[in-house]
Amino acid sequence: MNDTKNKIKEYWNERSSTFDLSPGHVIINRNEGAAWKSLLQEKIGLNAKKVIDIGAGTGFLSIMLAEMGYEVVGLDLSEEMMERAKKKAMVRGVKVEFKQGDAENLPFETGSFDALVNRAVLWTLPNPKKAIAEWRRVLKPGGKLCFFLHEPHPDGVSDRARRYFGNIFILVTERRNPWNSLYDGNKLGVDLPFRGGVEPSVITKLLEDSGLKNVSAEPMMKIARLKRNNLPLFNKITASKHVQYCYTAVNPK
Ligand SMILES: C[S@@+](CC[C@H](N)C(=O)[O-])C[C@H]1O[C@@H](n2cnc3c(N)ncnc32)[C@H](O)[C@@H]1O
Repeated sequence: MNDTKNKIKEYWNERSSTFDLSPGHVIINRNEGAAWKSLLQEKIGLNAKKVIDIGAGTGFLSIMLAEMGYEVVGLDLSEEMMERAKKKAMVRGVKVEFKQGDAENLPFETGSFDALVNRAVLWTLPNPKKAIAEWRRVLKPGGKLCFFLHEPHPDGVSDRARRYFGNIFILVTERRNPWNSLYDGNKLGVDLPFRGGVEPSVITKLLEDSGLKNVSAEPMMKIARLKRNNLPLFNKITASKHVQYCYTAVNPK
């Protein structure tokens, strides 16, 4: 593993203890969970069996998919994030196979999976184009790709104020300094092309250029609304308004 990937892995190992404290990272009520499951079922379909969740983290998608009856492999760079996911899967009584690996260099045979999913991962990869080529490689012909990613962070005065107060809240509740992240400034030492979020047109072009078909990008307004309605008041005020998109594509036969 190269130096950049090691730094990223160490960051997430440390971050694992606070990751699920953010209401944005977990399901906070039943309606939201039901909406996620219905979206995943619509995008992946009922015929898919083997699904891989790339950058599975603490298991947000992996565990939901296992509950829906899919055979799930969760892959992540960070052992500590996956330890959390394993414990959560056990508590929920579902089976997920977790494996350490790199999203840009997958340890699987070509054509291994019926579907590949991920959430909030492409922004932290140094080479998104390589990652997408890998994701396509491990999909069976006709296999479905479905992932979730935010548009660029807005940066107006009110957005910066909201972020500032949100960070103070994190400092107090999580005892973590969000101003001192590996992803701030040039600490990582390499460019992450999608670090601040990305325009949907950039992603759809990348997917089309990689040879994937039926490419689509949908803003996830319903889930965002459900999430926002159920947030505690302070999180509601400080939550960023940038939209998360659901991207889908098919590996041609
Ligand atoms: C923002 S978290 C998202 C976690 C999870 N997908 C979710 O939505 O809750 C990003 C995850 O990507 C993982 N990650 C970062 N770079 C990776 C890479 N090159 N290969 C695999 N996983 C990676 C991190 O360890 C972390 O668990």
